[in-house]
Amino acid sequence: MNDKPRIILGIETSCDETGAAVYNLQDGLQSNVLFSQIDLHKAFGGVIPEIASRSQLEKINFIVQQALDDANVTLTDVDAIAVTHKPGLPGSLLVGLCFAKSLAWAQQISLIGVNHLDGHVFSSFLEHDVPFPHLCLTASGGHSSLYKIHSFTNIIEIATTQDDAAGEAFDKIAKLMNLPYPGGPVIEQLSQQANFVDFYNYPRGKKNILDFSFSGLKTAVLYDLVKKNAYDMQTKTFLADDNLELKQQVASSLLVCVKDIFINKLSLALKQQTDVQAITFVGGVACNNYLKKELRAFAKKRNLKFFTPSRQFCTDNAAMIAFVGAQKLKRGDESPLSLDIF
Ligand code: KG4
Ligand code: ZN
Repeated sequence: MNDKPRIILGIETSCDETGAAVYNLQDGLQSNVLFSQIDLHKAFGGVIPEIASRSQLEKINFIVQQALDDANVTLTDVDAIAVTHKPGLPGSLLVGLCFAKSLAWAQQISLIGVNHLDGHVFSSFLEHDVPFPHLCLTASGGHSSLYKIHSFTNIIEIATTQDDAAGEAFDKIAKLMNLPYPGGPVIEQLSQQANFVDFYNYPRGKKNILDFSFSGLKTAVLYDLVKKNAYDMQTKTFLADDNLELKQQVASSLLVCVKDIFINKLSLALKQQTDVQAITFVGGVACNNYLKKELRAFAKKRNLKFFTPSRQFCTDNAAMIAFVGAQKLKRGDESPLSLDIF
């Protein structure tokens, strides 16, 4: 490594956010800019891939320029471009990757492909010194996994979801009740109004299996709503728009259930992984204050440290991509210009 500060431009376009960030290997994060397309997709109750990629194309130039301006650098100062190349929506990923490749080629600098999930897994490191080995619970709209992290290069997935992700369960159940997308924030708000009481005792799934499964929970909530005459299966219509109390009770029971599922999986994992020093909780679902508080208390009881990123680094962002890119640059782990999406 030469003496020059190593400046990494991170680009994230895996789904419905356009992000760019500048990370300096000596001084840390210098800027982090994000455009969220949530308003474009709200009317559809979920992300529409074609709309997502078109919006990525419209925004990427401006977002990258903003990240450079905020960090007070120009492209000529940048030593490497880190970009999410997997996993994600193909059209969205392609916009970021093609943009990154063009910049890397034009500037004759390194290109570093980053796995979006590695970004989430190490997002806590942007603000905290997290000890190895630790357990990382990643919960987002697309993923629910438990990893044992030994180092930046040694990540072992010890559990994943057999079907829906935790965030997806919030989104789908919110949709059942005509609540806006994304479901997580509104479910949290309604749960708070119901004081996080478990009214309906939804099923917690198989207790002795490490893998997650959330589709059964979604079905259980659906059947419970039908039983309460709040949902018509034939017309797929929610019939209780005016019943705020019901929505609060469903949301609250759902959140408490997801908390119990998370704690059960962590307990199981800790039985097997006795050398871990900390637990991290990352991904969009880690924005949830109730879950953070409960998981922090769980870790404390086990004498483990607990880390979770601030909100801006929980949901998709380019800072975490730039950070992982910086670690890869240190190791000389660069990518060829033939890098593809996945
Ligand atoms: O990490 P993220 O921004 O995107 C993916 O990579 O999926 O996560 C988005 C997910 C959505 O499913 C959303 O409902 C959930 O995170 N989410 C929340 C909260 N805020 C966002 N879930 C629970 N509570 C929240 N406060
Ligand atoms: Zn994500």
